[in-house]
Amino acid sequence: MSDRVNTTRLQEMARAYTVSAVLYAALDVGLFTHVSNGCVKEADLANATGLRRIDIDRLVSCALSLDLLDWDGEELRNQADVEAYLVEGKERYAGPWMMFTRPDVPGWFEMTERMRTPKSSRLGMYDDLTVESARQYHKATSSIGFGAARRFVRMVDLTSRKHLLDLGGGSGAYSITAVEQFPGLKATVLDLPPVVLATEEYIADAGVVDRVATVGADFTEGEFPSPVDVVVMASNLPIYDGEVIGGVVERAFRALEPGGEMHLIGEMLDDDRRGPVDAAMWGMNELICGSEGRAHTRAECLGYFKAAGFVEVEVTDFVAGTLARCVGMKPIK
Ligand SMILES: C[S@@+](CC[C@H](N)C(=O)[O-])C[C@H]1O[C@@H](n2cnc3c(N)ncnc32)[C@H](O)[C@@H]1O
Repeated sequence: MSDRVNTTRLQEMARAYTVSAVLYAALDVGLFTHVSNGCVKEADLANATGLRRIDIDRLVSCALSLDLLDWDGEELRNQADVEAYLVEGKERYAGPWMMFTRPDVPGWFEMTERMRTPKSSRLGMYDDLTVESARQYHKATSSIGFGAARRFVRMVDLTSRKHLLDLGGGSGAYSITAVEQFPGLKATVLDLPPVVLATEEYIADAGVVDRVATVGADFTEGEFPSPVDVVVMASNLPIYDGEVIGGVVERAFRALEPGGEMHLIGEMLDDDRRGPVDAAMWGMNELICGSEGRAHTRAECLGYFKAAGFVEVEVTDFVAGTLARCVGMKPIK
């Protein structure tokens, strides 16, 4: 192998912010929605968006080169994932999630200063939640959370389970999807008090008020509702440090009936911490959001479970390259 190196990769990294900016702008002007609705020529896109032809030319070139758009002969078309997730009005539209972290952009560019003069609190971004901000937040998380929950119920058979506790359940995506899938199951969503008011709206919309309850509480302290035979904690992991996560897993163990199971789903680093990048970045996000959280490795998560007393503990891919799932069983005796 040649030992010659060049700056290409480093230059790309130095300007990687341009990729996010193009995606945001394309969503702002509804580029993919217009293409899906038949504006497949640049002149049509200029008319539909009201933008100058030159800016449509620029935007379309960026979208083609980022593999968001493709050519179908002389016409434009959305790539398959773009058509599924970035077309407004479609059931799987995930635009709110794609835009959700946009307000954090200035904070990311103050990273150095924030590391030099750190300010953090236990709950970080969740310190000042209101019911309205929780509603907005979960409009974004639900746009991907229900898809993740459907994946969970395809992977994990809860047919014989009676009661699921969903820690930091947010929109209730996992609880609602699980009770819909498993007729014998009830669920409790535990989340911060302003959040559960938003959760209750999702539960009512899904028509499962009789099977999904809520508890407004902070999962970093106090005992959990008990007895339950399944605990799920999804997409909370980097928000807290090892002491807090270890404590949550311990209290979940206590809340479980013998033979019960816990699933911790989140962005986990490989043990040598060489990836995935997304997991490392969610850890860094906690600097920007002002919590004490960080990215955890798969081995650390195994350690929290084993220290709590769980057996048959393992970590597997949940969404390869992004999310992992740590599962453990409470011994029967
Ligand atoms: C990214 S959302 C994930 C929501 C849901 N589990 C899902 O996967 O769709 C994180 C959730 O954790 C909740 N959360 C964070 N810290 C919490 C705490 N200390 N106590 C209770 N809930 C908390 C937040 O309010 C938010 O609803």
